[in-house]
Amino acid sequence: MANTIKTKVGIIGGGPSGLLLSQLLDLKGIDSVVLERRTRDYVLGRIRAGVLEQGFTDLMREAGVAERMDAEGEIHNGFEISDMGRLHHIDLKGLTGGDTVMVYGQTEVTRDLYDAREARGGKVIHEAMDVQPHDLTSDAPYITYTRDGEKCRVDCDFIVGADGFHGVSRKSIPEDQITEYEKVYPFGWLGILSETKPVHPELIYARSERGFALCSLRSQVLSRYYVQVPLDDKVEDWSDERFWDELKARLPEDVAAKLETGPSIEKSIAPLRSFVCEPMRYGNLFLAGDAAHIVPPTGAKGLNSAASDIYYLYHAMVAHYDEGDSTGLDSYSETALRRVWKAQRFSWWMTSMLHNFPDNPDFDRKIQNIELEYFLESEAARASLAENYVGLPF
Ligand code: APR
Ligand code: PHB
Repeated sequence: MANTIKTKVGIIGGGPSGLLLSQLLDLKGIDSVVLERRTRDYVLGRIRAGVLEQGFTDLMREAGVAERMDAEGEIHNGFEISDMGRLHHIDLKGLTGGDTVMVYGQTEVTRDLYDAREARGGKVIHEAMDVQPHDLTSDAPYITYTRDGEKCRVDCDFIVGADGFHGVSRKSIPEDQITEYEKVYPFGWLGILSETKPVHPELIYARSERGFALCSLRSQVLSRYYVQVPLDDKVEDWSDERFWDELKARLPEDVAAKLETGPSIEKSIAPLRSFVCEPMRYGNLFLAGDAAHIVPPTGAKGLNSAASDIYYLYHAMVAHYDEGDSTGLDSYSETALRRVWKAQRFSWWMTSMLHNFPDNPDFDRKIQNIELEYFLESEAARASLAENYVGLPF
């Protein structure tokens, strides 16, 4: 094929997982190519979560892409849980002995990674269509794709599937070689972004009789709010006015009274899902991030779980190329999955504790009430919540 590129690591997907890995590998002199189906603007137009664990921010610093994050991101020492109209503070810093989280949008993380790849002359190929990995169990796997109508090929040692939940990588593994675990929740999150001052300096996760709500932010002039909605609701059903009224009804009265409203600049509904694919390796294809696992957004573990995969994969590849030591690659799936499942448990638990489940039997509802009450009263329980929220060690 005329357009053949040779590289060490062929990365499918130019989201945060793929870009972060290519940047880290580049700093160690390991060449990679990133193939992304969309344009850069399209990728940067997606609004996603914005709470980064310390492990993630450390990895951004190691990748040399933390300057703007450290200047513009907000350190949060805690967050609030509102239970039926009363706020309870979760002092992350105090409960963990000093750990905090950083509020900095995934869009900004991705923009910084794109800029860094560009500055170092990284190969990020946008609008790569019909991407297909081949010969996954051989020593010479390769990827084919089409660009501007031309057929192209990437020859590599390893392929990394960082192409999100709907990507081609996981689907290229024979069905009998993987097991998929999935839980779909009977509701979604309707989210809006608005150029208004955030209602509270910290995030508020609110449980109410009308359902869950979340007050989050991107900056002091940009707010992000969500309300739990039935799965069959459509964005068109929700005028801005209806959204603000519903949000207020789910918050404590004094918080609702302070809420600054304004036109939404983005509004979308996302279903909630827990999903894990095991193992995360097939031959010389390694899955990372959303390609291998999805969490419901309660607890903000999506991007952070992706980062821990990248941490393990990056170190395993460096050991392979620098020292000829492949034990990290051989244990990648097992190591990554151990942490993935802990983030799954936490996200499932936060979701279960804070949402209204339409068909819950009375007994389950009683347990849900008492579970939150227990967590808010017990210092030991809050310490466990805080330990997971700031992120378990890699
Ligand atoms: N070929 C090439 N690229 C593809 C293909 C394909 N067939 N399919 C998907 N992609 C691209 C998508 O366009 C997207 O840009 O792969 C990228 C995957 O990015 P993400 O979905 O952001 O996944 P990831 O990089 O693992 O980031 C995980 O993103 O979705 C959130 O909650 C998630 O915050 C977490 C983070
Ligand atoms: C967000 O700001 O979009 C956000 C924050 C915390 C979450 C989920 C989403 O748990």
